[in-house]
Amino acid sequence: MLKNYRFFGGFLTKNSRRFSTKKAKGNLNRYIQRQSTDEFTVRAREHNFRARSAFKLMEIDEKFKFLKPESTVIDIGCAPGSWLQVVVDRCPNGYVMGVDLQNVLPIRGADILSLSDITSPEVQSKIREKLAKRGSVDVVLSDMAPNPTGDNATDHLRLIELCRTVFRLFTEEKAFELSKNGVFLCKIWDGSARGEFIRELSNRFSTVKTVKPTACRDNSAELYLFCRNFK
Ligand SMILES: C[S@@+](CC[C@H](N)C(=O)[O-])C[C@H]1O[C@@H](n2cnc3c(N)ncnc32)[C@H](O)[C@@H]1O
Repeated sequence: MLKNYRFFGGFLTKNSRRFSTKKAKGNLNRYIQRQSTDEFTVRAREHNFRARSAFKLMEIDEKFKFLKPESTVIDIGCAPGSWLQVVVDRCPNGYVMGVDLQNVLPIRGADILSLSDITSPEVQSKIREKLAKRGSVDVVLSDMAPNPTGDNATDHLRLIELCRTVFRLFTEEKAFELSKNGVFLCKIWDGSARGEFIRELSNRFSTVKTVKPTACRDNSAELYLFCRNFK
């Protein structure tokens, strides 16, 4: 039965294409073994989180305390929705919007734009329309991950470019306004363009910190850039 599943955006999804090579089967077995014993995967299941990444956001919020009960939050790259689960819980009187390329099952308290590519002008217009009624945004989250090409340098640059797209939404495109004490938290895969991107962020935020929550896998190049105090 497991032959009918494949990795997509970090998750196993059903697919008619079958793994035919020994290498793919080995990777799948290692993935299943790691998932069944991984501390954060087990805890995510216990707490009904849709993904273990919920613990990354909780750890970052415990450190910087930026999710407030009244916050307006937009979570870009939100599927399957574990960050949204954390945000609706911590911001019960705010407004929470999620956006993803994939279909996202409903979450009470979250306004979700499924099947929506953040790079598309139509999607950006929809976001602009929805947020126009809400005033400024307090927190912008991006945990996006493009499908890996297998080349780390290329994947790093593609993800930085996606983060830049989000950054431009509230700096150049004015799709919405980020509040003065606003926060932008984005995931990157580490690589050569990190320094340059941090410099760009530092031009618009007084504080830019690099964080690696304990729930990030040791062998992963994943890092989070936490930006606060929008100038
Ligand atoms: C690691 S997952 C996010 C997990 C999520 N934070 C959670 O806790 O459930 C990355 C997501 O980014 C989405 N993504 C990648 N490129 C995107 C794009 N251009 N527009 C919108 N979403 C995108 C993928 O579809 C995928 O669902």
